[in-house]
Amino acid sequence: MRRLLVPIAIAVAALPLASCGTEDVSVTSPDDEAGAVLFADHCAGCHTLTPAGTQGSGNRSLRVQGPNLDQRAVPYEDALFAIRNGGASGAVMPQNIVVGDDADAVARFIDEYSGTEVEDLPQPSSQGGGGSTAGGS
Ligand code: HEC
Repeated sequence: MRRLLVPIAIAVAALPLASCGTEDVSVTSPDDEAGAVLFADHCAGCHTLTPAGTQGSGNRSLRVQGPNLDQRAVPYEDALFAIRNGGASGAVMPQNIVVGDDADAVARFIDEYSGTEVEDLPQPSSQGGGGSTAGGS
């Protein structure tokens, strides 16, 4: 019986990996897809970016968790800067995870696809805030 269990355990362990492929990438051109796939491969551990099918680590308590790029529109130059320098500060994010054409492709992908949820962010709409609960839902 013990022998039988081993291959099953391996198969189960491999499942999450199998679902981490590129099938979640939702971009329109093959050019964009290159950047999306690179992002999914190299940046997914720390950054959420839906068009690349990534969800970050899903754990905000990890210090390495990077900004959610759905909620942050990052232009090409800034993305390239972040890739080369390791984020804005170089403190947490590794530098040069991707380089050359790959870095360029990822930066262009971010430029085009980041910030899609910026307008959906809840904004504090009123100041002073009394205690009135509007009932909700
Ligand atoms: C080990 C975790 C980690 C990985 C891997 C990682 N990042 Fe980051 N990233 C961070 C953190 C943390 C920050 C915010 C701190 C900072 O900017 O110094 C950040 C910041 C950024 C920013 C700046 C966001 C802004 O608001 O301006 C961009 C763009 C970025 N990362 C892109 C990438 C790309 C592209 C990759 C893959 C090539 C990547 N990151 C891989 C952790 C990571």
